[in-house]
Amino acid sequence: MRLALLLAALPSLTLAQPTTDDSHLAQQAAQLIPAFQQQLLATVKQAVEQGGPAQAVQACQTLAPRIAAEHSQQGWQVARTALRVRNPANRPDAWELQTLLDFQQRAAAGEDLSQMTASTTLDGEFRFMKAIPTGEPCLACHGSEIKAELATLIDQRYPDDQARGFQAGELRGAFSLRRTVENTP
Ligand code: HEC
Repeated sequence: MRLALLLAALPSLTLAQPTTDDSHLAQQAAQLIPAFQQQLLATVKQAVEQGGPAQAVQACQTLAPRIAAEHSQQGWQVARTALRVRNPANRPDAWELQTLLDFQQRAAAGEDLSQMTASTTLDGEFRFMKAIPTGEPCLACHGSEIKAELATLIDQRYPDDQARGFQAGELRGAFSLRRTVENTP
């Protein structure tokens, strides 16, 4: 339903083409992602090792936003989004939604998800997104055969969870980065 509403709003949105001097911003954004991604993965892994998957769900809930905040630096805001989200706070805005749909189409046309990016300048902000493919280790919490105990826990913490039923190799979501840019005429 929500998706349909957002889709209906899309025709009013024009995708600005990145200008040449935006390329260094795209590069900067791309360079911020690996450390953010590494810390998220390491945190989940450590939590699984210490207390099992239940602990890891809790770690994701409390630590993911904190890790995102920590990696938001030098004017950049770092976040994750998806077409189907677990945390409603991660819902895509109009440009993110359009870009995620575009990523899906590009993947269907054979492009490698792990290298897929997009950028634009919109409302005085430079925006950058990088696709996140679903990996095997993600299926424990985002797949279609989530262990009962874990599923119950996810249901409790995320009553509106849409982020399950994924298969390895599918688009899971995207990193989404933004920063305010000077308006040069
Ligand atoms: C231990 C369970 C667990 C594992 C394993 C896990 N996730 Fe998640 N994931 C979560 C939880 C819980 C959230 C919600 C975090 C929050 O509240 O911000 C989440 C959120 C996300 C989001 C943000 C969008 C949304 O749905 O809210 C993305 C993207 C994501 N996960 C991708 C992955 C990928 C890719 C992997 C594998 C590398 C993975 N996850 C592995 C539990 C897990």
